[in-house]
Amino acid sequence: MAYYTIFLTLLCALNFQTIVKSRDNNLDTYIVHVELPSTSTLSSLVDDLQRWYQTFLPSSTLSTSSTEEPRILYAYRNVFPGFAARLSSEQVKEMEQNPSFVSARPQKTLPLHTTHSPNFLGLNQNMGFWRDSNYGRGIIIGFLDTGINPDHPSFDDEGMPPPPARWKGMCQFNSTRCNNKLIGARYFAIGNGTPLDEDGHGTHTASTAAGNFVRGANVFGNANGTAAGIAPLAHIASYKVCDIRCSESDILAAMDAAIDDGVDILSLSLGGPPQDFYDENVAVGAFSAIEKGIFVSTSAGNSGPRPWTVGNGAPWILTVGASTIDRKIRATAVLGNNEEFDGESTFQPADFPSTLLPLVYPRSNSSNSSAEFCLPELLRNVDLQGKIVLCQVGGGIGRIAKGRAVRNAGATAMILINQQPQGYTTVSDSHVLPATHLSYADGLRIKAYLNTTESPMATIQFKGTIIGDDSAPMVTSFSSRGPNWPSPGILKPDIIGPGHNILAAWHISVENNSNTKSNFNIISGTSMSCPHLSGIATLLKNAHPDWSPAAIKSAIMTTADQVNLAGNPIQDETLRPANVFGTGSGHVNIPKATDPGLVYDIDPQDYLPYLCGLNYTDRQVGIIVNRPVRCSEISSITEAELNYPSFSVFLGNQPQTYNRTVTNVGEANSVYSVRITELPGVEIRVEPATLQVSQLNQKLKYQVTFSRLANASSRTSFQGFLTWTSVKYSVRSPIVVFVV
Ligand SMILES: *[C@@H]1O[C@H](CO)[C@@H](O)[C@H](O)[C@H]1NC(C)=O
Ligand SMILES: *[C@@H]1O[C@H](CO)[C@@H](O)[C@H](O)[C@H]1NC(C)=O
Ligand SMILES: *[C@@H]1O[C@H](CO)[C@@H](O)[C@H](O)[C@H]1NC(C)=O
Ligand SMILES: *[C@@H]1O[C@H](CO)[C@@H](O)[C@H](O)[C@H]1NC(C)=O
Ligand SMILES: *[C@@H]1O[C@H](CO)[C@@H](O)[C@H](O)[C@H]1NC(C)=O
Ligand SMILES: *[C@@H]1O[C@H](CO)[C@@H](O)[C@H](O)[C@H]1NC(C)=O
Ligand SMILES: *[C@@H]1O[C@H](CO)[C@@H](O)[C@H](O)[C@H]1NC(C)=O
Ligand SMILES: *[C@@H]1O[C@H](CO)[C@@H](O)[C@H](O)[C@H]1NC(C)=O
Ligand SMILES: *[C@@H]1O[C@H](CO)[C@@H](O)[C@H](O)[C@H]1NC(C)=O
Repeated sequence: MAYYTIFLTLLCALNFQTIVKSRDNNLDTYIVHVELPSTSTLSSLVDDLQRWYQTFLPSSTLSTSSTEEPRILYAYRNVFPGFAARLSSEQVKEMEQNPSFVSARPQKTLPLHTTHSPNFLGLNQNMGFWRDSNYGRGIIIGFLDTGINPDHPSFDDEGMPPPPARWKGMCQFNSTRCNNKLIGARYFAIGNGTPLDEDGHGTHTASTAAGNFVRGANVFGNANGTAAGIAPLAHIASYKVCDIRCSESDILAAMDAAIDDGVDILSLSLGGPPQDFYDENVAVGAFSAIEKGIFVSTSAGNSGPRPWTVGNGAPWILTVGASTIDRKIRATAVLGNNEEFDGESTFQPADFPSTLLPLVYPRSNSSNSSAEFCLPELLRNVDLQGKIVLCQVGGGIGRIAKGRAVRNAGATAMILINQQPQGYTTVSDSHVLPATHLSYADGLRIKAYLNTTESPMATIQFKGTIIGDDSAPMVTSFSSRGPNWPSPGILKPDIIGPGHNILAAWHISVENNSNTKSNFNIISGTSMSCPHLSGIATLLKNAHPDWSPAAIKSAIMTTADQVNLAGNPIQDETLRPANVFGTGSGHVNIPKATDPGLVYDIDPQDYLPYLCGLNYTDRQVGIIVNRPVRCSEISSITEAELNYPSFSVFLGNQPQTYNRTVTNVGEANSVYSVRITELPGVEIRVEPATLQVSQLNQKLKYQVTFSRLANASSRTSFQGFLTWTSVKYSVRSPIVVFVV
């Protein structure tokens, strides 16, 4: 729990499983799936849908427990046949009698999960792939988030063409606040009657993916430069489905609308804990989107570094973990014994004196063991006047809030230290007082120093923006990790991208004492890495309009980097090489992704045998794919048999063979040969070992067989790569083998 606090405050105070209750405690918002009348299809029924759905509602006279009429909030048209309605559990029981009823469950609400990052990703103005992909021109990205601030300079439409003719969306702002950049803005029930972003998160994510160029962007003077989204000429359509949490019925309604409106890409920086896909409404709605060719990019979640935490793990969507960039806003802690520790803070007062201050560590005692987290209620009677306070991250209180607490208790400054799980992941925050955030290891050194003296002293030196940290990209501690709970045979996350210290548009006061407003803010989370990949998918869609969502995803995955700027294997928060449950395929490499050579394509209907193979019931599969399914009439496949660009294999004593099909999108004539990392416990054989392509879009099959070696002990796992290389290309798939 402790490390949820690393993100936005709006992510941290939240409890995943809360079910939204209304003023009337007997009614919940239910998501209801139904069947259509036998001869109908969704499209033939459009006008009658509302009436058909209405027939499922019990008459209110039968339900005496509630004062509110049952009513339909949303009648879904694209995501599945069904609706969201306010209902009591008795009313749901009554509905179950209807023969066309499929399922109903109360909605859950989901938590929400720069400027340097385009350059860090190899995008330079007027050069190379950024120019060649026209900066994403003509592509529409739909954001499901907290809304948007239309007046931000990042959403100015200078240089923007009008939206494509297919655009059918609407702008629910008064007057003329939408333009050729922000082409649509809608709100749903949770939106408080306005598409305006009252939080900051939605403005930040939209500008990260598609903000226009803004010169002189900075936070308190730091990270100064030209801000731009990854696809600065793409159009933005904002769908407000969150305040500080996101409602499932709204998410489905927004996806339903976005599919009709004509978006090309959906970007969702939100999600709950992993669940079976038929129960995960983002996955259910996304299936209808990909069937229409819409690419869906999502955040992996902020529940790392624990394993099995990755969310949004359906194979038809892109799941994005978070890694660091090479920029730090440095704040160095200096101790009375002259030891120095480099940390980070976005708030960097110019006039902070270098004189040492008394250092205090609010320690726990027998009656309370949480003092080191600097909870406000534990500091009330402690005199911190003029002191510098050591606080540990966690304890259910955000990092900036700890600063507020110690400041209110009179402290002059704060040194924030990690617990063990956060390791070396430190973040730059807009603190309310002079502060720095240090690693767990540095925290131990400071605690050791405290033991050596009666009167410990410390101060902070502010050193400004530093570019060129060659340990980047590094997997952040908070980035959620595989294995993928609902489908361990599909490796997730798919990819990592920048999600740490990301500068992007902001309009809410960045809180220091004076409530200074800043046009930009630096925040961290997989919420920030998702829109980077949404922007990258946009560039690829512009460059390759004929690629399917699965082909775009494959291109991003098989070309990813395995090494950091120093040329060493990508590390995680422990400074040891990261495993594939942290990195997925690796760190996104944009120039390579546009020219991958081969792709692993998947047709939407290929997911049916996969879903049947998960042993879902016909009804559960039907909920996802949106039509009646009989698994007994489909030859199911195991998860690892899906034509996915990575391998996650559960291996017993029987060897296992999988087929893969690659499609040539590179040069007409090339020869590829296979290379496989030696895994100590597993033998991997590939047939054929050479692939010869002679035309574009040619499809070639190969088989890969995994066999357990006699010396491989059970319950171990091995990781490596299978790579097809030609003179020009390298098409790499990560492999994880669990010996069971
Ligand atoms: C639109 O304008 C009306 C009248 O000025 C105002 O009451 C309402 O709050 C405005 N709505 C939005 C979304 O700005
Ligand atoms: C940011 O950079 C611009 C252009 O180099 C410069 O004019 C401006 O003064 C800088 N702003 C800050 C706050 O450093
Ligand atoms: C310590 O105090 C905090 C705040 O009053 C409380 O939430 C917590 O449960 C206490 N812990 C112990 C071990 O007493
Ligand atoms: C323990 O710490 C709490 C909070 O700092 C304080 O209120 C309490 O008096 C302390 N108890 C003892 C026995 O020192
Ligand atoms: C500091 O001293 C305390 C009390 O003697 C001890 O519990 C703790 O482990 C010491 N910490 C370090 C880092 O040496
Ligand atoms: C708040 O930030 C502004 C801008 O950097 C700065 O001038 C001001 O001193 C800060 N206020 C406090 C109380 O730190
Ligand atoms: C589905 O059921 C079959 C037969 O019981 C079993 O072999 C297989 O492992 C199950 N698959 C999953 C994903 O649970
Ligand atoms: C894999 O390919 C082989 C040879 O083409 C074929 O016999 C087998 O049925 C395929 N397996 C699956 C699961 O498609
Ligand atoms: C198993 O044996 C192979 C050689 O046969 C060796 O390369 C490998 O390291 C061994 N693996 C383990 C886990 O000992």
